Amino acid sequence: MRHAALFLIVMAGTALPVSAADLRPPPGASSCSGCHGDGAAMAVIDGRPEAEIAAAMAEYRSGTRPASVMTRIAKGFSDEESRAIAVYLANRKAQ
Ligand code: HEC
Repeated sequence: MRHAALFLIVMAGTALPVSAADLRPPPGASSCSGCHGDGAAMAVIDGRPEAEIAAAMAEYRSGTRPASVMTRIAKGFSDEESRAIAVYLANRKAQ
C-alpha cells in the first residue's frame, strides 16, 4: 500500500507540476533566494505568478530583457529547468 501511495504521488507530480512536484526545490531554485529572498536587496519573487517568473527568465536568457546579473544566471538554466523553478517559487508563500 505504501508503495502504491508513493507511486501515485510521483505520477501526480509528473502530470500536474503544481501539486506534488514542488515539495522539494528543483535544481537551482534555492540559489535564487540569496538575492530574492526575505530581507534581500532584490525584488521578492516568491509567490509571483509562475508565468511571470518563467517569462522573465526566458527574456533574460535570450537577452531581450536588459539585466545586470540575471542574464548570466538565466543562461545557466534550460527552459525546462527555469519552468520548474518558476513553478516552485510561484507556489511558495512570500515571507
Ligand atoms: C546574484 C543575485 C541574484 C541571484 C542569485 C538571482 N537573481 Fe534574479 N535578479 C537579480 C537582479 C540584480 C535583478 C534585476 C535585473 C538585473 O539587473 O539583473 C533580478 C531580477 C529578477 C527577476 C525580475 C524581477 C522583477 O520584478 O522584474 C526575476 C523573475 C528573477 N530575478 C528571477 C530569479 C530566479 C528564478 C533566480 C534563481 C534561478 C534568480 N533570480 C537568482 C539578482 C539575482
